Amino acid sequence: MNDLDAESISLGILASHGGSNLQAIMDACDNGSLKANVAVVVSNNSGSLAMRRARKSGIPAYHLSSSTHSDDGDLDVAIKNILKKYSVDLIILAGYMKKIGPSVLRTFHNRVINSHPALLPKYGGKGMYGDRVHKAVVKAKSTETGISIHLVDEHYDHGPIISQKTIAVDSAEGVEFVKKKVQKHEHRFWVTTLNKIQKGEIDLDNAGH
Ligand code: GAR
Repeated sequence: MNDLDAESISLGILASHGGSNLQAIMDACDNGSLKANVAVVVSNNSGSLAMRRARKSGIPAYHLSSSTHSDDGDLDVAIKNILKKYSVDLIILAGYMKKIGPSVLRTFHNRVINSHPALLPKYGGKGMYGDRVHKAVVKAKSTETGISIHLVDEHYDHGPIISQKTIAVDSAEGVEFVKKKVQKHEHRFWVTTLNKIQKGEIDLDNAGH
């Protein structure tokens, strides 16, 4: 059990581009399949569809990036301050392509989670994100790929895995098809995993032990 098994958990979501995972989580909060609320969205991309999706749902959305804060440390603190301002319990990286800074990681120790569209440690690390992951899977003619949800640390795609799902694929399906297939599963997998966290079935403080 952990302190997240409350009536409803408050989420801070970071997203860079399309925000289809953000949308799936907002929808699950709205339709009651997840006892949580999205308190705030942060994006490093001012024109992202993720920002538009959040605002359309009445959720405050902030653009914070190297263009708003040229110093990495200042940006890290600004992100932390916004997440604290909205009293979030848990931070979700839903297609967020930037590294999380030490101030956020320290303040929200064991409370930052990311999803990666492959079976980590395969196809992960610096430069491996979004379409690049699916391209690598197809190029390698892998017969399976998947989704990994893990605690975030100071390295890309690195912290303890808390939840993983395998998906069978055929390289002949092509990159776009594989991507769509993985993302369809990923939308549901976020909700399943967040429910387990909320119920205390996944204990973030003991992940990886
Ligand atoms: C998602 O598939 C997510 O797993 C991936 O980017 C996509 C974003 O889609 N994240 C990474 O590759 C991080 N290493 P979305 O913006 O439509 O939610």
